[in-house]
Amino acid sequence: MAKRTIVTLPGDGIGNIVLKQALRVLDASGFEADYIHGDIGWEFWCSEGNPLPQRTLELIKKHKIALFGAITSKPNEEARAELNPDLKGKGYVYSSPIVGLRQKFNLDICVRPCKSYKGNPLNFIRKGKGNTIEEPVVDVVIFRQNTECLYSGVEWTKPPEQVYKALLTHPKFAENFGRVPVEELSVSTRIFTRRATERILIAAFDYARKYGYRSVTVCEKPNVIRETSGLMWRLAKEIQKNSYPEITLLNTNIDAQMMWLTKNPEDYGVIVAGNMFGDIASDAFAGLIGGLGFACSAQFSEDGIAVFEPTHGSAPKYAGYEIPIVNPVAMIESACMMLDYIGEKDRGEKIRKAIADTILEGKTRTYDMMKMPGSPEVVHNGAASTVQMTDAIIAGLR
Ligand code: NAI
Ligand code: MG
Repeated sequence: MAKRTIVTLPGDGIGNIVLKQALRVLDASGFEADYIHGDIGWEFWCSEGNPLPQRTLELIKKHKIALFGAITSKPNEEARAELNPDLKGKGYVYSSPIVGLRQKFNLDICVRPCKSYKGNPLNFIRKGKGNTIEEPVVDVVIFRQNTECLYSGVEWTKPPEQVYKALLTHPKFAENFGRVPVEELSVSTRIFTRRATERILIAAFDYARKYGYRSVTVCEKPNVIRETSGLMWRLAKEIQKNSYPEITLLNTNIDAQMMWLTKNPEDYGVIVAGNMFGDIASDAFAGLIGGLGFACSAQFSEDGIAVFEPTHGSAPKYAGYEIPIVNPVAMIESACMMLDYIGEKDRGEKIRKAIADTILEGKTRTYDMMKMPGSPEVVHNGAASTVQMTDAIIAGLR
């Protein structure tokens, strides 16, 4: 088979550190690809006024697969202040390049697995009967709609007259907000479309079928958010009945789900939600399996573009250490998701097994796994560095 070309987007801060380690693991696993670097992140905002340059978009469009590290985003005022002096006052406005990527390529399906590794000291534990300690096995995969909902950016403070008038035609708006002066109104819209909602639901059901999960849980709030959450729930029932009768369909409200996840996380398999609740649920479940050092993700578009990335950000405070300390597992697992996607599932599994063995053995643990506050000293106090953790995983490949 011809060698793949993969676009690497290290971005900012620890994105550079962890992506390099993931590439080492891919190489060591025998995976062969051509990697092409793509510029993205803060540096390009400062120097060009664009953190997501057109040339990077062209690269992704051409090669279709990208491994992404993390980027740094800062509030508007700081962004303006750090812009190259030649570009100041020329109307450049910062916007997050990762959100930009999702929108540009319509990466509407986001998959975030949260699976506990045996022996991970960060795994969630709870009290069982007779004061015993239980460590439930968490094996949850969250399907997050990635382009719509409250994150679509359709929002106003002091909405324009047309919008305000349209809002007034809604009896609930007129009754509850009709007397609020328009300049005191902020409105963010929660938009769901039938097509995107169907796509995320079908992706979730397909995954459940393919990987043997017994249930799909829709995690929204249809009893209150009747139109958008209601749409997802209605479509889920239809899709399940017509196409996936063997899979149990469950319905949880996001608030209750946040409570149940610490009571009975083992009862959930595939979870599907809109953008915001998917974001919340995936962070919450990630907390049960070790947090950001273990949270990986993949994003797919309808026309075959896929971007794989750890859920964590650029952790700038840990970016400049002479010996990097951050946990590379989330990035390496994201690379495994890429391998699954391109038909290299066995290789992905081989790497996952090496991660699992390293964690179970317990000799090599990054600072987060040792519950140490992050500092340059951790590597002198028994924590493995980023490179040592990666070395251990590589040594376990067989
Ligand atoms: P963050 O995810 O960068 O870091 C939060 C904390 O999580 C860190 O201080 C560290 O304690 C821990 N952490 C993160 N990654 C870790 C790893 N691999 N191993 C061990 N511990 C790890 O989030 P924060 O501090 O809120 O944001 C920092 C910057 O990253 C901001 O500019 C933010 O906008 C950006 N960001 C970018 C994301 C992306 O590129 N997808 C996602 C989230 C934040
Ligand atoms: Mg999040």
